[in-house]
Amino acid sequence: MREILPHNTIVKAAYALTAGQLVGLPTETVYGLGGDATNAQAVAAIFALKGRPQFNPLIAHVPTLEAAQAQGIFNAHAFKLAQAFWPGPLTLVLPAHPNSTICELARAGLPTIALRVPSHPVALAVLHDFGRPIAAPSANISGRLSPTTATAVRADFGDQLPIVLDGGACTVGLESTIIGFDEHGTPILMRAGFITRTQVEACLGMPIRTHTHSEAPTSPGQLLKHYAPRAPLILNSHLCPHGAAYLGFGAIAHETSANAKTVLNLSNTENLIEAASNLFAHLRALDAHHPTSIHVAPIPHKGLGDAINDRLMRGAFASNL
Ligand code: TXA
Ligand code: MG
Repeated sequence: MREILPHNTIVKAAYALTAGQLVGLPTETVYGLGGDATNAQAVAAIFALKGRPQFNPLIAHVPTLEAAQAQGIFNAHAFKLAQAFWPGPLTLVLPAHPNSTICELARAGLPTIALRVPSHPVALAVLHDFGRPIAAPSANISGRLSPTTATAVRADFGDQLPIVLDGGACTVGLESTIIGFDEHGTPILMRAGFITRTQVEACLGMPIRTHTHSEAPTSPGQLLKHYAPRAPLILNSHLCPHGAAYLGFGAIAHETSANAKTVLNLSNTENLIEAASNLFAHLRALDAHHPTSIHVAPIPHKGLGDAINDRLMRGAFASNL
């Protein structure tokens, strides 16, 4: 069942997204927990609400192939698949376009971006009205089942997600098929879904391999390379020697920053959502000053702090490799 909602409801949802709020919205696969993919604070709020201890990359939903081409670099295979299966339950993982407006947090710092044009009329209506990509993981609390009805979304989030668009039960009920590409542009099945390998192979006229464990986006080896700034990361530090950079959280003592080459603060007010939204950009900005090392203030291990600490620990580990 696919319900079309009153235009007014769609406009309100798009307005909430523009204001940085999250919206539960139906797609043909499962309900998504949607936020403005170009707004790192909104994306941080998605991670916070889902309660995931790590930043995993999210799918950015766009209304058309043209909108997708502004965000990712399509090779010939990707273009063929998009033409054949969009709008629909197919996600393409592509190199991010240099002019992509999608924030780095939505990509979890990866150089690639996952893109999908959903076919559900409510999702499409919101995407057209909003005019920006919507980052949306499945609208469930981490570890729970993906929701296929608005009632299931409300059961997980209650008052914490005031806007849930009810577009009826999802017709597919299974997450999208994810196709990525190796460095030679060869297609790889990254997640099985409603669109089968046979359909993808028939479309491209070639066999598709399944990704090996070492290619999995969440496997430490692959992620670590992207997670590490050039300068070694020193965590839980209240000190910053000459030539080093300091990344603060909350008030920074004068003794801490006195010798620092450069100082940035993830959040003056110890707001973890703000801190998460600044994490990638601040690490990159500090690294650009070529410090001898980057010292990072302790981040509390609660809420989004777990995901921030996970990301920092991976970075610190990689900088020691
Ligand atoms: O059907 C769907 O795909 C639903 C609806 C809401 O669109 N969304 C969904 O999102 O299942 P989520 O966040 O639960 O799953 C996204 C998957 C994750 O397995 C993630 O690792 C992968 O997409 N992914 C996202 N960006 C990626 C990237 N740059 N490289 C590799 N994998 C990526
Ligand atoms: Mg999920």
